[in-house]
Amino acid sequence: MENPVQVIIVGMGERASIYAREALTHPKLLQVVGVADVSPERVRLARKLFSIPEERCFSSAEELAAHPKFADAVINGTMDRQHVSTSLPLLRRGYDILLEKPFAVNQKEADELLRCVHETGRHVMVCHVLRYAPFYRRIKETIMRGEIGKIINIQMAEQVSYFHESVSYVRGKYASPTLCGSGMLLSKCSHDLDVMAWLMSGTKPVSVSSVGSVFQFKPEMAPAASGTHCFLDCPVERECVYSAKRLYVEYPQRWVNNIWHECGCDDCSETDRVRILSEKNNPYSRCIYRCNLQIVDHQSVLVCFADGATGTFSMTGGAAASGRHIHITGTKGEITGTFEEQHFKISRIAPEADSGKISEVIDVSAEQQGNAHGGGDQAIVRDFIAMLTGAQVSPCCTALDDSMTGHQLVFLAEQSRKRRGETQRI
Ligand SMILES: NC(=O)c1ccc[n+]([C@@H]2O[C@H](COP(=O)([O-])OP(=O)(O)OC[C@H]3O[C@@H](n4cnc5c(N)ncnc54)[C@H](O)[C@@H]3O)[C@@H](O)[C@H]2O)c1
Repeated sequence: MENPVQVIIVGMGERASIYAREALTHPKLLQVVGVADVSPERVRLARKLFSIPEERCFSSAEELAAHPKFADAVINGTMDRQHVSTSLPLLRRGYDILLEKPFAVNQKEADELLRCVHETGRHVMVCHVLRYAPFYRRIKETIMRGEIGKIINIQMAEQVSYFHESVSYVRGKYASPTLCGSGMLLSKCSHDLDVMAWLMSGTKPVSVSSVGSVFQFKPEMAPAASGTHCFLDCPVERECVYSAKRLYVEYPQRWVNNIWHECGCDDCSETDRVRILSEKNNPYSRCIYRCNLQIVDHQSVLVCFADGATGTFSMTGGAAASGRHIHITGTKGEITGTFEEQHFKISRIAPEADSGKISEVIDVSAEQQGNAHGGGDQAIVRDFIAMLTGAQVSPCCTALDDSMTGHQLVFLAEQSRKRRGETQRI
């Protein structure tokens, strides 16, 4: 490529900086030429990392959108509720956008964004990075080659580990629709329902139903004699697996970065961290059973597709370990696997074989590199560049039109759950 694609970071948070760092490893493909963030500290960080001149630093997405266009595209890593309101003026300003998921927090917003994309003729690619992970990409390719025939049923499940659940979905910034604009199905599992819709390759859903509730993180499940704050008044703190002292101070390697950032102490000493967590109003030290949780901690979804195929998805928060499981049954065979195990099995119907089937294990560990999204965070940036330069995009491509169905499934599932499982027809 002659000139790198030039991007501006909007919301230089945890996620946007992962994508933007591709400019450091592939400077011939990508260059970061501007930044917009309401946090001066984040702007300073981006300036330093990418050598951005001062006149290309902005104090918000809105301020950037009011300025004449000076780059090809934007990486929008603001929080869930801001995705549509920050993207609309940037699209109208002429920018293409790599936009974090969920790209909208309700159907009305999603439709508004899609309308704007069609009106402006710009591109939006949604960060459904799991599609790009070799585990899911190779499953999709297997289906596309017709190896298991026509899909009859897809079963998917996501276990959210107890420590991730506690940091993000009970005590953290995704614990209430007021904070992040949606429930756990959208903030955590929009990836999974996107993958389900994508694997169905254009066969549309016709109905969705869902049930879910708070099973565990409520006062009646609290240990007898427990207090309200792990550092201040809990006599059973040492026995509780959700002790904030234990999870965030004694074993700080598990999902705790968000806490220090939210508490404004990215580089604090352990003593300062203990002091901050000991504050009476620190959300991360609240008794996990007394957080007045506004979202569910487990939920199941049933989807029926136009050709009669079915799909189920179950999310359970508070599991011993994180895990994404999939089992697809087709007319000629099956695919089973667990994302974290980095391999899946194809079993083909074979009457001539002793066991009645021929199985093959597809190992993706060499490609998946062991990182959280299996390399998807990096691969999506390269596909975004391909989209902007008119090169061939991959079958994973998460263009907005193609990402709509997964979000629609989430919105309808939430509607159904709130109506005690009533089927929602499309
Ligand atoms: N694709 C994935 O797998 C994945 C994983 C985790 C999170 N996410 C999503 O990524 C998004 C960002 O999450 P994060 O953890 O990086 O959040 P973050 O809080 O670290 O980053 C958000 C940034 O946006 C900035 N900001 C706020 N208002 C702004 C405005 N008006 N203009 C410009 N900047 C503004 C904040 O100051 C902050 O720096 C969220 O929507 C989240 O749900 C996606």
